[in-house]
Amino acid sequence: MSKEEILEEIAHEVKACRKCPLWKTRKNAVPGDGNPSAEVMFIGEAPGYWEDVKGKPFVGAAGKFLDTLLSILRVSRSDVFIGNILKCRPPQNRDPLPEEIRACTPFLDRQIRVIEPRYIVTLGRHSTAYIFSKMGLQFTSISAVHGKFFEGQVLGLNVCVFPTYHPAAALYSARNREASENDFKILKAELERHGVIKA
Ligand code: URA
Ligand code: SF4
Repeated sequence: MSKEEILEEIAHEVKACRKCPLWKTRKNAVPGDGNPSAEVMFIGEAPGYWEDVKGKPFVGAAGKFLDTLLSILRVSRSDVFIGNILKCRPPQNRDPLPEEIRACTPFLDRQIRVIEPRYIVTLGRHSTAYIFSKMGLQFTSISAVHGKFFEGQVLGLNVCVFPTYHPAAALYSARNREASENDFKILKAELERHGVIKA
């Protein structure tokens, strides 16, 4: 089976999943989207209102800002892979519960193993804390770790992890927007240096 076919199979399982109570309130599960061989994978938190309506990741206001950030890298969505910790929307967009994260992340882990990204960009504290736990790193706060590279092993793969703010934070202030944009400029320079994107 090709990477694409395996990812389709995972997406199919996600859409039928009832491993945590979030299946009861979802309109659509959001398995994630993008290039099955992406060198850069982005991991968000959970679907919001519009993602739940459309079944696609980051299609609401935060997604619009994510597109702006991707334009800093001069990549399109089809170059990268965009997924989430939780595949179904928590009611009122509340924070993911630990038991929901435990139930759902085997899907994300399988996606990571198939895609084998060189870089994982974690968007916000939930995805950063989860990936750090896989690396054996202690997560403190997003403000302490954002904009830096952490090399290590995730699920037996050598990866470089780059935590940054969740793009939804940018909706609250120009300062947050600038902080995100600044992180993506740091990321761009690194990806250019390693030939992942063209300078
Ligand atoms: N926020 C997320 O973390 N993920 C999405 O897919 C949309 C908004
Ligand atoms: Fe299954 Fe994840 Fe949806 Fe819970 S959030 S029902 S574990 S796909």
